[in-house]
Amino acid sequence: MNTVGIDAVEIWTGNLRLDLPDTFAPQKGEDPEKYTKGLGLNASSFPDSYEDIVTMAANAAYRLMDRKGLEPEDIGRIDVATESAFDNSKPVSTYVAGCLEQVYGQDFHHANKGERKFACIAGTQSLDDAYNWIKAGRNRGRGALVIATDTALYARGDAGEATQGAGAVAMYITEDPSLVELSTEQGYGSADETDFLKPNQQFPSVDGKRSVQVYLARMREALTDYESVAGDIHPDDIAYVPFHTPFPGMVRKAGLLAYRHVTRDTEIEEELAAEIGRQPRREAFDDEDAYREAVREYMDALKETDRYRGWYAETIDPTLTISREVGNWYTGSVHVARASALKHALEDGRDLAGESLYVGSYGSGAQAEIHEETVVEGWEAEIEALNVDAQLADRHDLTWEEYERIHDAHNHDVDSDVEPLTTPEDEFAFDGWGPMGERQ
Ligand code: CAA
Repeated sequence: MNTVGIDAVEIWTGNLRLDLPDTFAPQKGEDPEKYTKGLGLNASSFPDSYEDIVTMAANAAYRLMDRKGLEPEDIGRIDVATESAFDNSKPVSTYVAGCLEQVYGQDFHHANKGERKFACIAGTQSLDDAYNWIKAGRNRGRGALVIATDTALYARGDAGEATQGAGAVAMYITEDPSLVELSTEQGYGSADETDFLKPNQQFPSVDGKRSVQVYLARMREALTDYESVAGDIHPDDIAYVPFHTPFPGMVRKAGLLAYRHVTRDTEIEEELAAEIGRQPRREAFDDEDAYREAVREYMDALKETDRYRGWYAETIDPTLTISREVGNWYTGSVHVARASALKHALEDGRDLAGESLYVGSYGSGAQAEIHEETVVEGWEAEIEALNVDAQLADRHDLTWEEYERIHDAHNHDVDSDVEPLTTPEDEFAFDGWGPMGERQ
């Protein structure tokens, strides 16, 4: 069997931008550095009133199909991952296919369509589904279109408001891919959790502080589970670790956890212990508080070591560049992190072919997954084709008053008909609901 993986990727950002230090922080009476340094965010991408999960997904998918010269008959499967769906029956992929059919004048009658839900990890689950479908030999030579799309908005005043974002990532999954090959092994950490929920409501109910702890706990389990099937990961064998990135500050914590994990029982751990002047605690104390304190002290010291800082700067920080400017895209976020890392390598002139990415996906509710991807020869051409910098630069900068109005436009509880702030150009735009409830 040939290798299977991601052949091409495209990113579509919401057309508006909310500046966090200059526009958001003063309104909240907060120090701007809480956002730029604490959360690690400069801005959120925001959807204009004619943008939603369908338009952003269709725009990303069309850009990908057009660039790769794909026709509907080349695509045997369309899966959309989202946690912002508006229809509990008809999957978002059918709406997206409807948009694309208008351009191609052909339908996707032969394509299996679906919608995946498990909070932010659903994008990776759709990728896994596409991989399994091709590996099972059911694809009849066709590829799978996987699209992760979300309007990750929070209620006004919610602590999560600073981490909002909106955008879509389209990926084409094929045999002999041009970007990365996926490994067969996966590691999981999964538990029934209630830290982040949207039970028939538009904006999430979030226990923000707890959600951070649940993310870390599930990620630790996923790393352990991964190593039980794939063997130990050595830190020097990792090019990048793209994590699910609700905000870069979360990934700072996940990066430290991952480093601690992959250096356990290695010569690096010994060298670090000598530098720090204390051994990591493994054995349980009778006193749980004392045990936690010992672990915290070790981790605080570890994070200040030159060795860890160097590893973080090379392996994790490059995954965060785009996220800093767009905020959380839920299902698309880990795929933005991968693109960010590869873009960084391209700009650095780094020869990445054959190197490994360890991808750490996470969805509240809660589940984490670790899998390995190998960058393939010719990857540079795929990343060069991304126009993400231009998209980010072209966004309209929101004033606070505009932000309030546009947030209302996306709040189904508010009766609001808001004029758009930008004009759609060569893109799908939402034009209201038709007589039978069909999207226009
Ligand atoms: N200068 C520098 N740093 C500052 C600062 C300043 N002036 N003021 C605060 N900070 C730091 C804080 O110390 C903190 O850093 P640490 O966590 O490293 O200590 C950071 O900035 C954030 O400050 P707070 O904790 O006070 O911020 P908050 O309570 O207002 O909000 C949050 C943080 C709870 C995570 C909130 O953003 C939230 O609810 N977000 C949504 C939920 C979320 O994203 N959870 C992540 C895990 S779940 C997941 O990943 C799924 C998903 O996509 C939602």
